[in-house]
Amino acid sequence: MSGLDALTARNGLLYGGDYNPEQWSPQVWREDIELMRAARVNLVTVGVFSWSLLEPSPGEYAWEWLDEVLDLLHGAGIAVDLATPTASAPPWLAALHPETSAVDARGVRMSVGSRNHWCPSAPAYREHAVRIASALAQRYADHPALALWHVGNEFGQTCWCDLCAAEFRTWLARRYGDVDALNEAWGTAFWSQRYRDWSEIVPPRAVPYLHNPAQSVDFQRFTSDQMRSVYRAQAEVLRAVGDTPVTTNFMGFFSGVDQHSWSDDLDVVADDHYGDPQDPTSPARSALTHDLTRGVGRGAPWLLMEQAAGGVNWRPHNVPKTTTQMWHDSLRAVAHGADGICYFQWRASSAGAESFHSALLPHAGPDTRLHRAVQAQGRGLEALRSVAGAPVRARVALVFDWPSLWAGSLPARPSDRLRVLDQLEAYHRPLWRAGIATDVVPPSADLTGYDLVVLPALPLVSDDDAAAIAAVVERGGALLVGPFSAVMDATTRVRTGPFPAPWTQVLGVAGQEWRPLPDDGAPVRGERYGDFRASVWSELVDARGAEVLATYGGGDLDGDPCVLRRADGDGAAWYVSAVVPDEILERIVLDCAADAGVTAPLEHVPDGVEVAVRGDVLLALNPTSRDVVLDLGAHADDVRDLLAGALVGRRPTLPAGGALALCGLRPADGTDQTDQTSGGDE
Ligand code: GLA
Ligand code: ZN
Repeated sequence: MSGLDALTARNGLLYGGDYNPEQWSPQVWREDIELMRAARVNLVTVGVFSWSLLEPSPGEYAWEWLDEVLDLLHGAGIAVDLATPTASAPPWLAALHPETSAVDARGVRMSVGSRNHWCPSAPAYREHAVRIASALAQRYADHPALALWHVGNEFGQTCWCDLCAAEFRTWLARRYGDVDALNEAWGTAFWSQRYRDWSEIVPPRAVPYLHNPAQSVDFQRFTSDQMRSVYRAQAEVLRAVGDTPVTTNFMGFFSGVDQHSWSDDLDVVADDHYGDPQDPTSPARSALTHDLTRGVGRGAPWLLMEQAAGGVNWRPHNVPKTTTQMWHDSLRAVAHGADGICYFQWRASSAGAESFHSALLPHAGPDTRLHRAVQAQGRGLEALRSVAGAPVRARVALVFDWPSLWAGSLPARPSDRLRVLDQLEAYHRPLWRAGIATDVVPPSADLTGYDLVVLPALPLVSDDDAAAIAAVVERGGALLVGPFSAVMDATTRVRTGPFPAPWTQVLGVAGQEWRPLPDDGAPVRGERYGDFRASVWSELVDARGAEVLATYGGGDLDGDPCVLRRADGDGAAWYVSAVVPDEILERIVLDCAADAGVTAPLEHVPDGVEVAVRGDVLLALNPTSRDVVLDLGAHADDVRDLLAGALVGRRPTLPAGGALALCGLRPADGTDQTDQTSGGDE
């Protein structure tokens, strides 16, 4: 079930973007709408940054322009995702209530003149935000164009002001009960940080040296919760006027909010994704991010709320997407569970800070290569109509959560070169390359439906979650654990004893030392994977029941285990104690998949080609400059390409820069996909 069901039942896949008519004249609106129709746009987000125009003075509203815009859109059959305009408060709010502007860690108060300058704890900000949200709700609840409510924009800022400090103390008091418990959890015996009273505690503001890590991570938890309460207050007044689904747009792995703790507050999960077109690893990272977004919505179809049609304007050097990249980026999102493909923004601004950001309709107008590609994309998405609502059925879970990202990004770790997101990408990439569907889920998710559970980097994990993870092997599943895992408990306290403390038994491993490697790495040997060099990181671990698959071959760790596997009944637990080269990790990950009985949709994926399965459709993208032939195998009699609307043989050609959406494939192992249980899509 997704909050998009009603909308996609009417429209098929959704297509559109942010529409900011307040920047243009009513005459331009009419042209916009004609062009939207021609491009088959069926959903636009309106009002994100229009607070100062909707409420020019406190309590005085100007709705007429928005009334007209919504009427025009509705007349053209274009649905509206209507935003509460609270991401950018009008200058009058800061003038009347200076405390509504956020303060940074050094005590500098933010000015008006940009956006997102508000403090989440300021009562005056909250009151005014809820007031405009509720006025909007009252006015448009029954407007026929309204399909979705959109609260604010990209929640994720941090404020260190006194109001936030007071709220932080309240939050801590709820979490710990009394100050002594906080002192214990934060380890304040270190560096004489013991607090006598709540009033002495402040957010992690500017300090001479390192912050207390527990304080830092708790402040990130608090900030996420505080943002969520701003979201909730607005969502509540929107929900009070009807049952239109409510969403907000996240930013992938951005560290500002713990999306998993927001899941229950969203009817639709939406993400803004701006892969760097000149980075060859972008497609892999995009696929990973999409798998994350789908996981936040527990498998339900999600909305790609924003992406760029060409270049962004916020990188120092903005290489634009090619039109092929634009189309492939969209198809990839669909393949990974998106039911809507939207952009920032419809028409390129000619004034303001984002005038040099690409748009679906460029400054040069509709008679342009880019806009023709936008129109072609509309036709392509229409051809994929039947994909809307289909689940991605994953048998593999990749475990990630924000507290672990926060803890794993703290300063003063053994190495800042061992990065949570790098590791996550490295372990996800082989699965992505093979076209094996993978859900990115938090450790607290129900893991029982997954045959393989992969933990590339989970430096912080609670005792309960650690126990649930160990149970994967006990029930016969496969588990793959990367280095520096489960090092900290939920308070960032380092667990004592051999590591990874909660899993020494299940992994058959007892670790002693973390050993970041010199720049030239360290040799590793073994029969199964041959000789290779580990980089960045190594560990001194003993095998206690695990089979050693590769050993360090030199230096201090000469002869010690590097990669290990412990069989346990039907289950298997793998431990990789180093950062290993991509091609070796690929073999390890695919061996784990084989251990778990997880097969790829195609036996062979040509180099550079990307495949992914959604529902009963296999999407194949060829970003290379050569035509390739896909071997669909014997189980491919009546396969149809939805994009071309034609039957293909068992060996269709996938042209250079092209894409196929193949429907009617039966899985190679003869199982019926629709019968497989999934841990993610209930
Ligand atoms: C974000 C914001 C948009 C716009 C784009 C530019 O996604 O939500 O308002 O600033 O970035 O890339
Ligand atoms: Zn504040």
